[in-house]
Formats: sequence, structure tokens, C-alpha cells
Amino acid sequence: MIDHLPRYERIWLLLGIGSIIVFLVVLGTLGIFVGLNPPGHMRTIAPEEVAATAPFDEPGVTQLGPNEFRVTMVARLFAFDPGEITIPRGSTVHFEVTSPDVVHGLFIPNTNVNIMVVPGHISEYTYTFEDEGNYAMLCHEYCGVGHHVMMGKLVVQ
Ligand code: CUA
Repeated sequence: MIDHLPRYERIWLLLGIGSIIVFLVVLGTLGIFVGLNPPGHMRTIAPEEVAATAPFDEPGVTQLGPNEFRVTMVARLFAFDPGEITIPRGSTVHFEVTSPDVVHGLFIPNTNVNIMVVPGHISEYTYTFEDEGNYAMLCHEYCGVGHHVMMGKLVVQ
């Protein structure tokens, strides 16, 4: 099939095909046999059912322990629900966020909270707020004409 090609072209072609095969075998081995998959986005939800599906039928802050909270949040055009959160300093917060409409983001500057919120998926992230202050919650995925006003506030006191 490739006999008519010049020798070097044949070598490079076979090297290219060979490295693709090696790449796929390594990836397949890690994914299927080692179980190494991208983290997150493992929980799913029907976007049109968000308002009727627990826990997103009642978005808000739930206290789990002395310094541990869960924030159940809906990111929608063009607001976060809840839009204002107050927690004590040193709290560990487990965020679970979903969207009933389009792709949004949840970004809290000066922290590691940087979540992509995709309809159909429940995005999760855990962060401990060690420092007091007012934190902004920003949408950092362009989601439409109101994208720039999509923000909330998180107070650590
Ligand atoms: Cu929501 Cu940008």
C-alpha cells in the first residue's frame, strides 16, 4: 500500500502511526484497567428538572459539622442561588453546583474555587476559607448578555 512512497516518507509515516497506537494503548490501559479518569462531573442531573430535583429544589447552605458546610447552588441566567453566603472563618465548604440553562462558571478570586458549571452535570469542589473577608462569586464562562452582572457575595467572618 505504501511501497510506492520514498523510503523516508514511509519511515515517518510508520513512526506517526506507531506513536498514535502507543498513545491509544497507554490511554486505554490507564482508563480501563487502572481506572484513572478525569475527576469531577461524575454526578448528573436533567437540566430541565433542576428546580424539582433534590437537593437543587432548595438551594442554600447546610451545616454539616462545627466548621463544615455544604453549599447547594444553582447557577442560572444571570444569577447564583444562593447569591449571598455567610460562613465563619476556617470553614470547609463543599460546593455542589449545577445549571438549568447554559454553561456558567463559579470563580471566587483569591481562592482555589474555579468551577465550570455544565448543564446536566453536578460540579463539586471543596475549599477551606481561612481568611476573613468579603469574597466575590463570579461567573467566568461567557453565558449571554447578562454575563457581566452574574455575581454573588461570600462573607467569611
Ligand atoms: Cu453565567 Cu457567565
